[in-house]
Amino acid sequence: MDLITAIMSRRSCRKYKPDEVPRDKIERILQAANWAPSGRNWQQWEFLVVTGEKREKIGKLYGEIVAERWPEPQARTSEQRIFLHWAETLGDAPVVIVALTRTDADPNTRKMNLESTAAAFQNLLLAAYAEGLGTCWMTGPLRREEELKKLLEVAEDREIVALTPLGYPLEWPSPPPRLDSDLSQKVRWIK
Ligand SMILES: Cc1cc2nc3c(=O)[nH]c(=O)nc-3n(C[C@H](O)[C@H](O)[C@H](O)COP(=O)(O)O)c2cc1C
Repeated sequence: MDLITAIMSRRSCRKYKPDEVPRDKIERILQAANWAPSGRNWQQWEFLVVTGEKREKIGKLYGEIVAERWPEPQARTSEQRIFLHWAETLGDAPVVIVALTRTDADPNTRKMNLESTAAAFQNLLLAAYAEGLGTCWMTGPLRREEELKKLLEVAEDREIVALTPLGYPLEWPSPPPRLDSDLSQKVRWIK
């Protein structure tokens, strides 16, 4: 698959087969992440590969976050129920990958570290897609980042940048339309 096709056809997957993902595939994906550009070449990302009980607990936490922001169960729309089910189960994906970076008291350095790790995370998503695997970038669970850090034994000087389930897709969503497909609003050419 060529790169532009991969960039344009990758989608956020929210339904997975429960099949295990071979370790060598996960390692290839993490290698692609590790080759991202980084501020000052600090390569300031780290990844947690979470399975089993802790993966279940991440889903439980995300489910609680979603549920507490929404109306009482009987007043929920079917779309809200579907989304809550996704949050609670993480779409039945067998693996969750968590991206961490070093936090920093200096806002510029902190931003640089976050950007470097975001670049690595996008590499990870695209590499997973090239391996026939689904992902879904998630920051929703970070509403309870401190609890997540405790659960995953993340050091004080690290922050969680994003999480994604990882697994074989059961179904892909259709592509969301571009808000400005001819880029007439989003791009300004300055001479
Ligand atoms: C920074 C960021 C945070 C996101 N957080 C969540 C999330 O918490 N839960 C979720 O279901 N999707 C999340 N998404 C996925 C977006 O909803 C998705 O990328 C968007 O709807 C476009 O769909 P596509 O990825 O299939 O192109 C996030 C994506 C990004 C880039």
